[in-house]
Amino acid sequence: MIARMSDRSGALRDQHDALRDEHDALRDEHDAMRDLLEQVRVELLGGEVAAARDALRRLGAMQGAHIARENTALIPRLGPAARWPARVYLAEHAKLEALHADLLELLAPLPGRCADARLRLALLDALAPFKHLLEHHFEREQQGLFIEV
Ligand SMILES: [Fe+2]
Ligand SMILES: [Fe+2]
Repeated sequence: MIARMSDRSGALRDQHDALRDEHDALRDEHDAMRDLLEQVRVELLGGEVAAARDALRRLGAMQGAHIARENTALIPRLGPAARWPARVYLAEHAKLEALHADLLELLAPLPGRCADARLRLALLDALAPFKHLLEHHFEREQQGLFIEV
């Protein structure tokens, strides 16, 4: 009986440790995505549209895998007393993917380099809503989801 209980608490501890590791990995990915976004902005500032496109694609690949893990492994475990309900996270994920796709579409037809400062400024402005949502979303997860699940 005691052995069975101790097996159970060991299994729960393993599950808890696995979730902690997952949170740490997801937090590291938040940092990596922030870095990639900064790289996109620096490249746009310098008129290096092709390099900005590459960094934005890499960010998108990471974002897609990251969101898939959160949607399947973490969000379904949110309880009814969670600070923000699952639908808030899911809606932000959908919006982030849509904004990212719009940005890739915006950059797709442009030449690899852009000397026009006004266009560079317009491209940086177009990136702002994505940056804003990404930063707020990561903060929300680190104050809610990653603590509560
Ligand atoms: Fe997320
Ligand atoms: Fe996240």
